Amino acid sequence: MTMIILGIESSCDDTAAAVIDGDANVLANVVSGQDAVHARFGGVVPELASRCHLEAITAVVDEALRQAGKTLGDIDLIAATQGPGLIGSLLVGFCYGKALAFSLARPFVGVDHMSGHLLSAFLEPRQPPFPYLALIVSGGTTALFRVDDFSRFSLLGRTRDDAAGEAFDKIARLLDIGYPGGPVVSRYAEQGDPSRFALPRAWLDDSLDFSFSGLKTATQQLHKQLACRNDASRQAIFDLCASFQQAVVEVLVEKSIRAAQTEALSHLVIGGGVSANSSLRRELLRRCTEASLHLYLPAPAHCTDNAAMIAFAGLQRYVNGDHGSWGDDVFSRSKLGH
Ligand code: KG4
Repeated sequence: MTMIILGIESSCDDTAAAVIDGDANVLANVVSGQDAVHARFGGVVPELASRCHLEAITAVVDEALRQAGKTLGDIDLIAATQGPGLIGSLLVGFCYGKALAFSLARPFVGVDHMSGHLLSAFLEPRQPPFPYLALIVSGGTTALFRVDDFSRFSLLGRTRDDAAGEAFDKIARLLDIGYPGGPVVSRYAEQGDPSRFALPRAWLDDSLDFSFSGLKTATQQLHKQLACRNDASRQAIFDLCASFQQAVVEVLVEKSIRAAQTEALSHLVIGGGVSANSSLRRELLRRCTEASLHLYLPAPAHCTDNAAMIAFAGLQRYVNGDHGSWGDDVFSRSKLGH
């Protein structure tokens, strides 16, 4: 009989629980967001996030079990995100999972959130062969990894300052156009002209690292100039969003292609909330086709923060004999690739 795994994710502002089986079939994938709570602050407030997790966690786990048609007695393994993320948020899901596993006398594994993103393509019908390149691009991370198997991840490059999603969120806050920033900027960008404003791209010579802080500052300066000239019309804001988005997308795509060629990898997987961006998806598809690379775009529900990917990565750790101990604690920085 196949194993049944309960996954729990609470690293930032989403309380998530999922039930998968040992063949990576997702039986339930429940996410309870907190956008309404954080919207008026224009970003996640850590203390509020952990309080919201506390309020939501029991209902979210119960709902995942209900949707999967399972009871706690059916669960063979519990996996929860151990880090990286906000410590207060992580503690809620991690301690909840650990206590549940202890009371049920079931094994428990802590999961590095990044490994969840790196392996999320295995929740899809079309799965990549090893080794492959993974571009993880979210609100907290922007990184390129080489993935050799379920437990060997090599960091090839990462952001030296802001994550791409963070840059989207900050630009939306600057323009005061809504929260979370990524989807709004992307909607505005669809109505804008990406060639209107020449914004900088940080290529960082041959490095596979990223940097978005210069682009963010340049966008900020440009917006100030437009406002001073009384020129910040609705169309100018659309054009600014389109020009900003194109600068981000161009660097992400170019560095991914460069990394694949340098590492002689022909399969590219993407993950993280920003991979929902339609311009990024379009451009990656175009460039991968040109370069004869196979692209894997997991469903948006598997790209954004979710517990199904945590359950799957936890299962791989467990199968690998990498069992957690009851004394394990959460961590704020990823240990992968170091
Ligand atoms: O992986 P994720 O769900 O969670 C965290 O990193 O916490 O990613 C959320 C990030 C946010 O910064 C959000 O603005 C960004 O992903 N995002 C997008 C889009 N949808 C979400 N960025 C650009 N375009 C989008 N369509």
